[in-house]
Amino acid sequence: MRPSPKWQPGELMARIERHPEIEDYFLEFSLAEIAERGGISDLFEDGYLIILKDYRLQADGSALARLSRSIDAVEDAGIRKRLKKLTANHVFEGAPPRESRGRLIFDDPLRQAIFDILCRGDRDIFEGAARALKQAHEETLRIFETCFPGYEPFRLIPSVRLTTTMFENLHWDNHNIAEDFHQARIFANLDTRPRIWNTGHRFPDWVRMHYDRLDLGRFAGKDPNLLIDFVTGEILGGTRKTWMDKEPRHRIAFDPGEVWLGESRLISHQIYYGELALVYMWFVRASSMSDPAKRFNARIEALHREMGRASAA
Ligand SMILES: [Fe+2]
Repeated sequence: MRPSPKWQPGELMARIERHPEIEDYFLEFSLAEIAERGGISDLFEDGYLIILKDYRLQADGSALARLSRSIDAVEDAGIRKRLKKLTANHVFEGAPPRESRGRLIFDDPLRQAIFDILCRGDRDIFEGAARALKQAHEETLRIFETCFPGYEPFRLIPSVRLTTTMFENLHWDNHNIAEDFHQARIFANLDTRPRIWNTGHRFPDWVRMHYDRLDLGRFAGKDPNLLIDFVTGEILGGTRKTWMDKEPRHRIAFDPGEVWLGESRLISHQIYYGELALVYMWFVRASSMSDPAKRFNARIEALHREMGRASAA
């Protein structure tokens, strides 16, 4: 049954325009309510998008606003890619830099690029951004503990998006990892403007709707990433034919500082517009889930079994 959190008028919250043809999978809870119910693992695993009610991530936005948004000046394509989805602790962790003729010199070329390009070689900007991201990092770890008290993570990708993202195509994430794991994801808008998303059907719902017409049974027993790639790339257009699909969408504007959680392999999404954001992804042992049968790969296997039986009947 859909849980119904208590809502008080006047509380801070994202603006959501719901599309009537898509399930309403948005839930809003305060951290206190989440702590009281012992976390939200069950709801997260069921594919709800959970928004923290009456909450704004405390990170010094003005320090982050001073960072440069353009990484075009970075010649090394590898470094450019790593700056685009930057691992947050590269900003606030690492060997202290040396100083040479007024310039800070880092051993790590990525940290050097953060300093030279994102911080324009300005030590104050660098130190301010490092403090702000460390604060956001610690707070996000605290949110994880409150939301997923039983989860046993074995890897964290603490990523920050410091450049503009706009007009993505609708997709479900493919992490290009064959391993059968559960992911926990926390997003935060670190910018002073709203971060605007569209979201659509959840993956199992979409696959069920189109299973026979697209002969999706041919993906049974294969890596589920192949099915995600087929639907996202061939059917929804991928990066080649963007915005050509006819899928219905919910629209959401996440406020500055807002925090939300969702499984991005289950919920289709596209960033319409966004600047600074935090996207933390934990790889979680399936055995520590509320229900290990709800991990992504197991869901897709069960779906093939269900649809196989349906077509055979
Ligand atoms: Fe995505």
